[in-house]
Amino acid sequence: MITRDDVLAAQQRIHGRRVRRTPGIAVDPGTSNLWLKCEFLQLAGVFKTRGAFNRILAGLETRTLDPARGIVTASGGNAGLANAYAAAQVGVPATVFVPETAPAVKVARLRKYGAAVQQVGREYAEAYAAAIEFSDHAGALFCHAYDQPEIAAGAGTIGEEILTDIPDVDTIVVAVGGGGLFAGIAAAAGGRARVVAVEPVLIPTLHAALQGRAARRHPRLWSRRRRPRRETHRQHRLQRRPAHRPRQRPRRRRRHHHRPLSPVAELPHGGRARRRRRVRRTHQRRLPARTR
Ligand SMILES: Cc1ncc(COP(=O)(O)O)c(C=O)c1O
Repeated sequence: MITRDDVLAAQQRIHGRRVRRTPGIAVDPGTSNLWLKCEFLQLAGVFKTRGAFNRILAGLETRTLDPARGIVTASGGNAGLANAYAAAQVGVPATVFVPETAPAVKVARLRKYGAAVQQVGREYAEAYAAAIEFSDHAGALFCHAYDQPEIAAGAGTIGEEILTDIPDVDTIVVAVGGGGLFAGIAAAAGGRARVVAVEPVLIPTLHAALQGRAARRHPRLWSRRRRPRRETHRQHRLQRRPAHRPRQRPRRRRRHHHRPLSPVAELPHGGRARRRRRVRRTHQRRLPARTR
């Protein structure tokens, strides 16, 4: 578990030289006490830059990071960008594992930061496993997206800044993914403010973790996750129909399986007239000739 001291140590390490001190702005000055922390203005555009710098610089201090072997991470998102950026600034090589389905724009940006990008597997878990294996074999320092003390403490410097800028803040609301940002800010607050974690209903990982179980994929995510993210609905429908079986028109239902019974005679339509003729013929045969 990290404490406020870890956050203060991270602040010493990264502030000024490595990351921006982002502004907190009042949403509606004078009428509301709601503030926003503008972390989108952070270097590389993501708050994860704080944790990435803290992990890399701490690694150099403790010699757990060999500058020749560099760092490795698994993320096609913000953590990948942050680590690639921080490694380039510090001057160590970075290898980033992403799934094959990672958006091309993200891969291009990682390469722009000088990272070696490895695309492995269709799901994040496969890219993650490959990154761990790479770390073991190549001796690169693994930088997790959220689950390491230095990463969480680095993110926690946001909480320190909030409490310095707005000392009487009573509640800090934090978006949760893996929980690193929340853990860091809660450590920084150290009881000085209430810290509220907010997570998506469909991916309740923190709730699951607090209940001591792994998060289960929400049923509403099942069908979407089965196909690659970039595939359109139309492509999906076309794929489901095998090429050798062209679309067939729906067969018209046969109107009547058998001829319906006439409601009057309980005979098939057309049978009633036939029956009348037959009856007439029989009567004619039986009646005496003079009455015909
Ligand atoms: C913008 C933003 N907010 C919040 C989070 C959650 O951070 P954590 O994974 O540390 O909980 C993320 C994670 O990627 C993020 O990108």
